[in-house]
Amino acid sequence: MILEKEKNWWQNISVYQIYPKSFYDSNGDGYGDINGIREKLPYIKSLGVDAVWVCPFFKSPQADNGYDVADYCSTDPIFGRTEDVLALIDECHNIGLKFIMDFVGNHTSDEHEWFQKALAGDEKYMEYYYFRDGKNGKEPCNWASVFGGSAWEYVPSLDKYYLHTFHKKQPDLNWNNKEVVDEIISVMKWWAEKGVDGFRLDAFNYLDKDLSFPDVEVPGGEKYGFGSRHYACRPLVNDHYRRLNREVFEPYNLMTVAEVAYAGADTVREYTGKDRREINMAYMFDMLDFDQEMFDKFSPLPFNAKAFRDCIFNWQKELSDDGRMALFISNHDQPRSVSRFGNDGEYREKCAMMNANTMYMLSGTPYIFEGEEIGMTNLDYTDISDFRDVEVFNVYEEKVIKKGEPKEKWISLFNRRSRDNGRSPMQWNSNENSGFTKGEPWMRVNGNYKTINVENCEKDEKSVLNFYRKLLSVRKSLKSIQYGKTTPFALENEGCICYLREYEGEITVSVNNFTDKNTAISLPKGRFEVLLSNYFDKTSAEGEITLRPYESITAVRTK
Ligand code: GLC
Repeated sequence: MILEKEKNWWQNISVYQIYPKSFYDSNGDGYGDINGIREKLPYIKSLGVDAVWVCPFFKSPQADNGYDVADYCSTDPIFGRTEDVLALIDECHNIGLKFIMDFVGNHTSDEHEWFQKALAGDEKYMEYYYFRDGKNGKEPCNWASVFGGSAWEYVPSLDKYYLHTFHKKQPDLNWNNKEVVDEIISVMKWWAEKGVDGFRLDAFNYLDKDLSFPDVEVPGGEKYGFGSRHYACRPLVNDHYRRLNREVFEPYNLMTVAEVAYAGADTVREYTGKDRREINMAYMFDMLDFDQEMFDKFSPLPFNAKAFRDCIFNWQKELSDDGRMALFISNHDQPRSVSRFGNDGEYREKCAMMNANTMYMLSGTPYIFEGEEIGMTNLDYTDISDFRDVEVFNVYEEKVIKKGEPKEKWISLFNRRSRDNGRSPMQWNSNENSGFTKGEPWMRVNGNYKTINVENCEKDEKSVLNFYRKLLSVRKSLKSIQYGKTTPFALENEGCICYLREYEGEITVSVNNFTDKNTAISLPKGRFEVLLSNYFDKTSAEGEITLRPYESITAVRTK
């Protein structure tokens, strides 16, 4: 029986996210692997996190780097063997880390046995996916795939189209078919029996589709854009969560975090509310969408601290009574935060620390993405052949090859906005290929690895890495950060993000100057002891204080 105190074990944890292909290569084949993670567990533990989330390592043709699963119960040889995964899970437990698995349930690979059978015309398996007849010689409807182009692919041998919300090699599973749900539940149980402690639910809010498959007006011209209104956050998603919760999550005491693109506050409260028994917390997309034109990551807007602040404070308010959010500033689908919010030149280290101090003192659960803790930056690639992401290739084909737009413009946009920014190899030291591999890396290492790497950070008490360690221990030590209410202050300073956290009389402030100018702000009443500072000199603060460029502190009230 699960003890009450163990039941909400996930409540106050911090998570370290690993993109296995780029983390550490143990066998010199150029790909990071499971045994590479095992070797680095002491490093991960030294950060002070409580859990790891490992991105998909299942058998896969890697069209979308493993998010195209060909077999849920086996491990892709580039990552190792399932025995290695089981050893990793055990070793995580022995060292005091929980293991969270990335579960891709909205779609499989087109190379999954189920889809192969469907393609061969097996009716049972055709019902596992969405196969539809065309309309007037065209796709069944005009929905666009998240990666660009139509969301439908034609299969000549069947004279039918199938739906793929993502890449055409990622056909969507039909969750209206009970057999599909049963299959997924049994796979999840299989992994739960093997000891995983939680699931990160990939694209799960896309599980329920509008089966009338209506055309949308102009893709992108809709309120929700690209037809997503017809496939995101629809009512059956709640039913699926409840069933999964009843049959898998609760019985195995698992933690769950789901991606919830296009969701409003009511929906997030429904999914993650305490008494709803659906999932534990949600990853909201608009948290990092505020610096681009609606739905178009390749139309970036200049960074605007006020827009960032409005977005995070709004979520803090909406979820203050119920529901829980994931706190993150980067992940494998995002550019590097230090290049995005602030300055990755002269002030790179200060900004990396400031970004962390801004986000991880909020209410919710921190998710730190590999490399963020040493202030890794966006890419410096010069040629399309350096990139690896399917999304980049789709956009390049469309804009440069088909429309003839300048190549240089797009390479520079990819270096600023593409998902590949978060996927270049982890920078361990200043040896060849940043110590990531002894072979040829699957993806080029960022040219700045001789300066920005773990080894250099370890030698410097004031490094970004040591700041992260301190931050996580401060976070753990303060009840106000774990349970407190969030109240913004100093809102008149639009370049600053300042808030107070309060719980049973304990008051903590996080103040962050996102400008390169000295800025005066007034602290709430009382005297504060500084616990974290990215200038490493203030020990106390009171009344009006002047924050230097990108200065950031966390302080607790002493009187
Ligand atoms: C999620 C993943 C992303 C993947 C997509 C399709 O958004 O984070 O990397 O491409 O789902 O599985």
